[in-house]
Amino acid sequence: MNDIVVLGIFVADTAFRADRQPRMGETILGKGFALGPGGKGSNQAVAAGRAGGDVAMMTRLGRDTFGEMARQVWADAGVTPLVEAGDTATGAAFIFLDAKTGDNAIIVYPGAAGEIDAGFVEARAAAIRDAKVFVTQLEQPMAAAERALEIARDGGTVTILNPAPAAKLPAGMLALCDYVTPNETEAEALTGIAVADLDGARRAGDALLAAGVARAAVLTLGPQGALYHSAERSQLVPAFDAGPVVETTGAGDAFNGSFAAALAAGRDPLDAVRFGCATASLSVTRPGAAASMPARAEIDALLAR
Ligand code: RIB
Ligand code: NA
Repeated sequence: MNDIVVLGIFVADTAFRADRQPRMGETILGKGFALGPGGKGSNQAVAAGRAGGDVAMMTRLGRDTFGEMARQVWADAGVTPLVEAGDTATGAAFIFLDAKTGDNAIIVYPGAAGEIDAGFVEARAAAIRDAKVFVTQLEQPMAAAERALEIARDGGTVTILNPAPAAKLPAGMLALCDYVTPNETEAEALTGIAVADLDGARRAGDALLAAGVARAAVLTLGPQGALYHSAERSQLVPAFDAGPVVETTGAGDAFNGSFAAALAAGRDPLDAVRFGCATASLSVTRPGAAASMPARAEIDALLAR
């Protein structure tokens, strides 16, 4: 059994660097290309593992080259696979990377992981119940995320929902979450409140707590850092300057995975948010998603600076 269980998807990221996105019917020349491991859940599991967490990744893969890529990246990060392999191909993501800013626009197709359903999760309930911390996102079907959160809650496992990509949730789902970790866009999708500044972030945080989030809403605010917002305190944790930004893909995943690892290690939640911010700040200085997750020693060194 593992301390942390992540339910989510793995995909192969195909990242194209270019000055701008092509228009329909147009071909433009790119400035770079990379194939690498992605998918929010897998990125979060890798971040947790690299940060020192004892973590398992629960998902479905195809029996193919991309599926092999998944197993390799997990093995390298010490992530335990809780995997079902099937006939559907492993998914992929198209990532446009702005050559100047390193920001991205993504199309993700979950492939084999799109077939994760509530029954799949129920068959693996023991791992979720026995974990200290459970983490999921919204790239696999919603019903699976919801059922897994119920199982975790019943088992007394601390639950983190990273509500990405942005979606509306079934009624009652937020009340299954100890922590919810939206970015600005996702917070607006959940609450209807625009998060344009810290004040908006606090109002969205209040709405998430009112919807039943048990411990805290943690709003990730890109280069600004993250807002930890609970009934007792609301505090901005600034991002760290870890060097020039190369690629922001997976920064949210870096935060979520290492936040989970820090909670599982018994850190106080605000301290866990600091740990998560340091991890994300390091990840954006490197290319790739899972490939950019820093090791525990690097995170500690940045925090000690
Ligand atoms: O959060 C970043 C991830 O989102 C990428 O790795 C891509 O696969 C998409 O799922
Ligand atoms: Na990165």
